Amino acid sequence: MDREPPDPPTNKRPDAADTGPPEARIPAGEGQHQVSRGGFLGMLGLGAGTLAVAGAAGLTWRAVDRGVFATGTGSAYAAWDGWNPPGGNVLDLVRAAVLAANAHNTQPWRFRVSPPRIDLFADTARNIGAIDPLRRELGLSLGCALENLVLAGPPNGKTPTVTLMPDPSDTTYVARVDLASTPAAASPLFAAIPDRHTNRAAYHRGRPVARGTLDGLKSLIDTADTDVVWFTTAEQTRAFGDLTVRATKAIIADPQQAADDFA
Ligand SMILES: Cc1cc2nc3c(=O)[nH]c(=O)nc-3n(C[C@H](O)[C@H](O)[C@H](O)COP(=O)(O)O)c2cc1C
Repeated sequence: MDREPPDPPTNKRPDAADTGPPEARIPAGEGQHQVSRGGFLGMLGLGAGTLAVAGAAGLTWRAVDRGVFATGTGSAYAAWDGWNPPGGNVLDLVRAAVLAANAHNTQPWRFRVSPPRIDLFADTARNIGAIDPLRRELGLSLGCALENLVLAGPPNGKTPTVTLMPDPSDTTYVARVDLASTPAAASPLFAAIPDRHTNRAAYHRGRPVARGTLDGLKSLIDTADTDVVWFTTAEQTRAFGDLTVRATKAIIADPQQAADDFA
């Protein structure tokens, strides 16, 4: 995907609880909504006050069950609380998209919802700073969101057709997703979306992953220009660990990145 020239590092990393003024992100016409994660939660009526009611109504247990509240509470967790069995609501596709993995939790996306279509835009101000001069990680984050959105289509009775970069004159317009009605079809990958989260806990160093598991994961690759390389030997994992620590120290020591991290 072509990237626009790097923006100045105006990293505005959102606090996870950032629910910002939704109206600042809803410029679209009648019947359309352009939403960020925070604005989306507002549209769902899941502001902090509403969340307390939802919890009293018995919705919060789902987030607790999934371990989400192991790291925090509040409106930032409303998309998990409100996770419903698929019911054909087009906003449920966005609900799935905003639970995607994304670099530094910047959530650099906006959605314009105008059924039967959803448009995905990059929010380039939500970049991670000097460490990502080509906005590669921003692009990866948008890809994660798009993948979740597409996965959420069939269970909600929608067949998505994705057009990447539909308007060459607007490099922030990442994807147009047209939705055709179809009988709903269950999807284990969709069902796993609210369970997925980044695991920063300690790894079992002495328990190798079975060869068959590694091969099975690798066999999922379905594009010729993609490959997976597993680091399995003690020498490889030590080298990878050392490089990771050195890279992290370099990032922390970089004055520009340090400034961007708190911009
Ligand atoms: C492109 C990309 C790069 C990431 N880089 C890191 C990283 O260097 N270190 C890290 O701990 N997590 C990294 N993450 C994980 C994000 O921090 C995480 O997805 C985000 O905080 C949201 O949390 P969740 O995955 O639990 O929903 C990365 C995720 C993506 C998509």
